[in-house]
Amino acid sequence: MENKIDHFKTKSKSWDMNSRRVQNAKSIAEFIVKNIKLSKNMEIVDFGAGTGLLSYFVAPYVGKIIAIDNSPSMLEKFKEKHTDFACDTEVFEGDLYEIYPERKFDGIVSSMTMHHIEKISALFSIFYETLKTDGFIAIADLDTEDGTFHDDSTGVFHRGFDRQILKETAKKAGFKEIFFETASTISKPHCEFTVFLMTAKK
Ligand SMILES: C[S@@+](CC[C@H](N)C(=O)[O-])C[C@H]1O[C@@H](n2cnc3c(N)ncnc32)[C@H](O)[C@@H]1O
Repeated sequence: MENKIDHFKTKSKSWDMNSRRVQNAKSIAEFIVKNIKLSKNMEIVDFGAGTGLLSYFVAPYVGKIIAIDNSPSMLEKFKEKHTDFACDTEVFEGDLYEIYPERKFDGIVSSMTMHHIEKISALFSIFYETLKTDGFIAIADLDTEDGTFHDDSTGVFHRGFDRQILKETAKKAGFKEIFFETASTISKPHCEFTVFLMTAKK
């Protein structure tokens, strides 16, 4: 990761101490478990896994989680907790395209990471190529917001997402059975922000 900026270096230290974040990840995981038939034979990716909040709540339902993230400091926290996860884990520091095409996975989950990715159509194409036949994605992020969700918008490319536009983008990448549900609401003093879960099949 030489010459790359770790935007989460400071935040990583106290990331898990924010109960709103933990509750958000737990709620997203509950919706994933409700909507996707998970099994202990599955190897799935948590894209932008960070410290592993989402991984922790999904772990009891899968065999292995591959945590992909380009922040060394967030992954350091993930690694510190590796014995807490109820499944095998593996950590990959970098971007998803760096492990494709050597490996294919049963599914990809992600929470609150997509708004940090500039080119969503390219991301969905990589997701598609990275999945086994019949693989799934379960991606959670903010609905369209006014830009006030983040106090510091460094590294933020999207003010949330329009569900219809996202659906079209996923369809173009080849995904089918694309569904949305509201998985969580994050309350901040000035506003409430809804978080969708998008699920789709290869
Ligand atoms: C808002 S945090 C969410 C972390 C975790 N999923 C959660 O819900 O607590 C976004 C994460 O995405 C990671 N990230 C951002 N851009 C990335 C990229 N291009 N490739 C891999 N990870 C990325 C960041 O390092 C960070 O850990």
